[in-house]
Amino acid sequence: MEYMKVPESRYEEVIEYLREAFPDEPLNVAIGLCQKGVPCELLESQDLQTLRDGLSVMVIDKATGEIAGVALNGISRKGDVETAMEAMKDIDSIEYHHIFELLFGLNKKADLFNKYKVDKIFELRILSVDGKYRGRGIAKELFQRSEIVAEESGFKLIKVDATSFFTQKIAESVGLKTEAEINYKEFEDNEGKRIYYKVKSPHDYYKLMVKELGNKK
Ligand code: ACO
Repeated sequence: MEYMKVPESRYEEVIEYLREAFPDEPLNVAIGLCQKGVPCELLESQDLQTLRDGLSVMVIDKATGEIAGVALNGISRKGDVETAMEAMKDIDSIEYHHIFELLFGLNKKADLFNKYKVDKIFELRILSVDGKYRGRGIAKELFQRSEIVAEESGFKLIKVDATSFFTQKIAESVGLKTEAEINYKEFEDNEGKRIYYKVKSPHDYYKLMVKELGNKK
């Protein structure tokens, strides 16, 4: 296996890889925003923007040249969540609203920029390992390598919106702590509706997790 920063020449390949590999993320399975193998413009345009931050990590199976997994890492700046919530008003997709209102809502409430006195945060936005390579520690390795990228790039805080129990296990094992969480089955929207009750166990919580970094550079 060969780990590397995602070069610009491979952005499209990563998007195509995620189109196949990421739709089984537990919140997406329950809500149904993206379907396996089908272009998913709303998410893919965000992923491309994240890739352009130049902080993402990929792993290639050297034997086949295939992408085995990726960690899409981006920069979050003060005010980004509020801007994204405003922009969401022009998006019709109910599925998009259901997923991103959950994530943006908790991030807004957590207010990490004020709490940790930072003006930018390293966000591990998408963690994905191809089905046939799972269960071998690849996601954990991608996570650890992302943390190194964050430290080398001078970030003081790494954050992950861990929608999957497996990501939460990895994040905990490398020292992230839970800043805020939502129980999928218990959460009710403003009208008292339970939107996330279909998310399957063991993925019982969405956890916003963080770690302060040593700042070696
Ligand atoms: N059943 C039980 N435990 C599992 C499973 C499973 N199917 N998959 C992973 N785990 C556990 C492992 O045992 C390990 O825990 P341990 O260290 O205590 O043994 C931990 O989760 C991590 O295992 P890895 O082998 O490093 O994870 P893997 O390479 O299999 O990738 C991932 C995990 C990325 C979640 C993969 O299953 C995947 O791509 N899923 C679909 C997309 C997704 O859900 N991504 C995460 C959403 S959150 C986000 O993107 C920020």
